[in-house]
Amino acid sequence: MKRILFVLGLTLCCVAVWAQGVSVETARFQVGDNPAWSNPSFDDSAWPVFTLDKDWNEQGVRNPDNFAWYRLHVVIPAELKEGYSKDVLLDLGPIDDTDETWLNGVMVGKTGSNPGDPEGYNCRWSEPRRYIVDPSLIRWGQENVIAVRVYNAGDPGGFFRGPAWIGKPLLGDYATLSAAREDGKVKAVLETRLKTRGTVTVIKEDVLSGEQLEKNSRKVTLTPQKPYRVSVPMEGRVRVQIVYADDNFEDGLETSVCNPYILTPPAPAAPRYNGPLVFGVRPGSPVIFRLAFSGERPMKFAVEGLPEGVVLDADKGVLSGSCQTVGEYPLVLKATNDKGSAQAAFTLKVGPQIGLTPPMGWNSWNCWGLSVSQEKVMASAAALINRGLADYGYSYINIDDAWEAEERNPDGTISPNEKFPDMKALGDWLHSNGLKLGIYSSPGDRTCGGYLGSLDHEEQDAKTWASWGVDYLKYDWCGYSKVFDPSKDHSTAASMRPYVKMQQYLREQPRDIFYSLCQYGNAKVWEWGAFVDANSWRTTGDIQDNWESMSGIGFSNQLELYPYAGPGHWNDPDMLVVGKVGWSNNLRDSRLTPDEQYTHISLWSLQAANLLIGCPIDQLDDFTFNLLCNNEVNAVNQDILGQQAHEDVNEDGIRIWSRDLYDGGKAVGIFNLNGASVPVQLDGALEKIGLKADTVRDLWRQKDIPTAAQYKVPSHGVLYIKVK
Ligand code: GLA
Repeated sequence: MKRILFVLGLTLCCVAVWAQGVSVETARFQVGDNPAWSNPSFDDSAWPVFTLDKDWNEQGVRNPDNFAWYRLHVVIPAELKEGYSKDVLLDLGPIDDTDETWLNGVMVGKTGSNPGDPEGYNCRWSEPRRYIVDPSLIRWGQENVIAVRVYNAGDPGGFFRGPAWIGKPLLGDYATLSAAREDGKVKAVLETRLKTRGTVTVIKEDVLSGEQLEKNSRKVTLTPQKPYRVSVPMEGRVRVQIVYADDNFEDGLETSVCNPYILTPPAPAAPRYNGPLVFGVRPGSPVIFRLAFSGERPMKFAVEGLPEGVVLDADKGVLSGSCQTVGEYPLVLKATNDKGSAQAAFTLKVGPQIGLTPPMGWNSWNCWGLSVSQEKVMASAAALINRGLADYGYSYINIDDAWEAEERNPDGTISPNEKFPDMKALGDWLHSNGLKLGIYSSPGDRTCGGYLGSLDHEEQDAKTWASWGVDYLKYDWCGYSKVFDPSKDHSTAASMRPYVKMQQYLREQPRDIFYSLCQYGNAKVWEWGAFVDANSWRTTGDIQDNWESMSGIGFSNQLELYPYAGPGHWNDPDMLVVGKVGWSNNLRDSRLTPDEQYTHISLWSLQAANLLIGCPIDQLDDFTFNLLCNNEVNAVNQDILGQQAHEDVNEDGIRIWSRDLYDGGKAVGIFNLNGASVPVQLDGALEKIGLKADTVRDLWRQKDIPTAAQYKVPSHGVLYIKVK
């Protein structure tokens, strides 16, 4: 929408008025809670002025698990009244975490619910607040007060998107268009709350070539309570796009559905090495490493150059034992089956640093949430081997929250709850198969899920975990917000303290424990994570299986972070949301489209991110296997230089990210963030980032392709290549 400035300013708030509406950039702000603050005549002149483009932490307020209020003052010029006979839109943007909103003392909207509400706490931090209000509530030509009561759990909180907007509603405020795949058809539903007319267009295209296969349009009349339905047959590698253009609104609605399509070629029957080329272990710590060869079983394994103390199980391909002497041991890993043999040059680094490539494995959270059990963990662990994911280097099996007993034992030690009858047996089984065990805790007294945390029991817990054979700890800030009083201490040291404490006890254990910090990127953790000896640190809040969440984390949040990643210490943009997820016993397919899932894995590959699968492996479908087990895509993630990609180009919705690789090559992702596919002239795109080549490797399809050609990059999809 073109916004033409014609009036400016108020003394209190920074307000701009455009032909179509009014924009408000600042508000009075106050921590606490008082029903009188919804009253328009309340005198808030002593409250500080906050901008709406930065959360309240960024404006110097720490206020976890508490209420705060914003009061936006805005004169809405009488000239705007014309054209607002029906509805007015209050567009407040997303608010972290919940809000209740009053306009001139009348409640006009609520999103999420607060602790103590009958329905319980429901955090909706990322959801845009677009409240439609009756124009009779507006004081035309005078000051209006929009009072917003916000509750926030943890940090940060409040408004953060930027100016609020008071203007005309869009079609999207009245109508929705949704579509899903069902019985070989796309079934779309268009619903409105207004009677209106428009055109529905259905476009069918070949997902690989981008070729249009079919296009037809139809004039429709929409009536409230009478959904308009479209059903389109869909076979093979086809994408169906449905577009609705309304006669009365400038904006339209659009959705597309795509059949999952597999790009990764099947692995050969002969052995092929797909794992990392280096593994770090500390002197004297157990070596736990499974040789990641795909190919038909049975397979025989051999390793040349093993140092004293490290042994190979030649049938399973599992290294165990330990090595006391610091050094770099060049090994040759070998595998043979009926169809042939393969070998790989590899380095075992015995020294201070572990986690030399990003961790690959599984975590229980995105699928099972708090319903995790030992049985479910074992099912995924067994499937990691049986379905062949261990042949691609996935090795960690990490239990997230909800394993903890209700109370500590009388001596202060912690036990698992009844859902985990034998942690030690689980650890032993994993280790005997060359896999590793991960656990979860918090430096606070409670975890995010309300289970026991490690506060004041750090040493005991580190010892207990080591006795079970734990190889990975995810240490999640959560309940620590109650301990650390941020109003007294704003220093980075205070944010580091609980992590330093646990690190000391982990290091005292007779085994290597990958140390994964989880505090959502607060206090710029990437700047100090390596100093507290962390192997990775979460850079964001929790990921969800939708485009806004995944692309927001992958493209925006990670933009500036590449200098901080490297062998032994990685930025962690959170776990994968492909396959079945649900954070509970109710699993469903990821809501990311197939193209968005290719983008997700390509970005995590480029960004040297932790690759922790978030779906139950025993329920893995072929499409998800294709995403997770492309050896060329994974090789970029595991590249031994450990350089995280950075963004080279951000133009017209096309983003180009690249990273250098140890063999002198460069991995390049060309991403299309637009709502429609875009043809990309490949040599031209490469020239923009100073590269020239006649052919490049298409990593997903695993074939060489010419650059003097146009490639259609699907909407929200990627062309992921390696330039040699
Ligand atoms: C936080 C973390 C999640 C998960 C849950 C468990 O939300 O960010 O990854 O570990 O806690 O309660």
